[in-house]
Amino acid sequence: MEVILREDIDNLGHRGQVVNVAPGYARNFLLPRKLAVPATASNIAIIEQERQAHLRREAKAAGDASELAKLMAGVVVTIRQKAGENDQLFGSVTAQDIATPATAAKSSWMTPSNNWANTKSRSASTARSPPRSPFVSRKKNSWFAMSSYFDLSGQVAVVTGAATGIGEAISRRLANAGATVGIADIDASGAEAVANSLGAPHFALPIDITSGDSVRDAIASVIARFNRLDVWVNNAGIGGKAAPITEQTDEDWRHIIAINLTGVFYCCRAVIPYMKERGYGRIVNLASIAGKEGNPNMTGYSATKAGVIALTKSVAKEVATHGICVNAVSPAVIRTKILEQLTEQQVAYMTARIPMGRTGTPEEIAAVVHFLASPDCSFVTGQCYDASGGRATY
Ligand SMILES: NC(=O)c1ccc[n+]([C@@H]2O[C@H](COP(=O)([O-])OP(=O)(O)OC[C@H]3O[C@@H](n4cnc5c(N)ncnc54)[C@H](O)[C@@H]3O)[C@@H](O)[C@H]2O)c1
Repeated sequence: MEVILREDIDNLGHRGQVVNVAPGYARNFLLPRKLAVPATASNIAIIEQERQAHLRREAKAAGDASELAKLMAGVVVTIRQKAGENDQLFGSVTAQDIATPATAAKSSWMTPSNNWANTKSRSASTARSPPRSPFVSRKKNSWFAMSSYFDLSGQVAVVTGAATGIGEAISRRLANAGATVGIADIDASGAEAVANSLGAPHFALPIDITSGDSVRDAIASVIARFNRLDVWVNNAGIGGKAAPITEQTDEDWRHIIAINLTGVFYCCRAVIPYMKERGYGRIVNLASIAGKEGNPNMTGYSATKAGVIALTKSVAKEVATHGICVNAVSPAVIRTKILEQLTEQQVAYMTARIPMGRTGTPEEIAAVVHFLASPDCSFVTGQCYDASGGRATY
């Protein structure tokens, strides 16, 4: 049987190579372990893209190493506090174990203001913490390069409802992490504007998630263009009418169910077959704290978001052995246009329940989504992550 290798395998061949192996060996060993896939034309194209992404990552790692080597050339460092039995070093050496470099030659990158290796010997007020985000370390010449964390290089991601608000922030974050991002929205001109501001290769993807056909067409166009779709973020949603249940009309109810719940169903149903075929995928669904606690005067909204959480848990279990992780994020109040659909009184009610005493930002939600959308999220599925400033109690 002809298969194409996804990894280098001793005695068999290199990543990307098409090899002919016994069907039993392929069926029982290579395919279930995802070390190889059948050598169909589409798989060959996909593996080639994976191989190219892998080469880019290797080149970046080599570049980082050589940059670090240049920065370290001539610098003498002494290790403190690491003597073990027989005065031998053991375990890993961290920056905190390194005393001040014995040369001032590199003072530009290890000055007291940015040298967190020295935090113990400085006052708490001036001491800096290690960089918290991979983006902090993306600055040129930073040797704290942690950019391989949550790296999305070579991946294709689609974010629905990305013309504004949380979806836009997620798109920018995923693009910054290396993904090619499809800005999917019913607001075609808004999507175009975000895609243009991100620049190529990012692209606008007109979509109406309440239509199964529109969703199918949008996904098919992405596959036709890139032959892969790694990440799908179901973010599009509306707040709906804020009013007691007795004032909600049939149409109010149908409208919010169509966008907030059926839309997520259509998108998951349509994208999963492609992800299954490749044995990889990350789906992130935007739910809400309202789906856990229920907000008064937001019956439809709360019910749809509870539905999104249950849908997430259900689908995650169905695809758990296919390399696909499906998770949800539950924000509390985030200052976006969606709040214009609610009364100030309603917004004040929701904000008052946040222990941090403030609303969140779209970027804070994007940070949570970024992890869930990345290959680093490999043993987490069917979960609902709170980004609620402490409001969620379960
Ligand atoms: N902002 C908050 O306080 C908050 C809190 C909890 C959860 N959320 C959830 O986060 C998500 C994003 O919220 P936001 O505040 O950024 O909203 P937003 O109103 O700022 O943006 C929503 C986007 O969805 C798009 N959209 C609406 N209907 C669509 C359809 N049928 N097909 C495709 N796109 C459509 C809109 O055009 C818009 O660009 C929503 O699911 C929302 O329920 C928001």
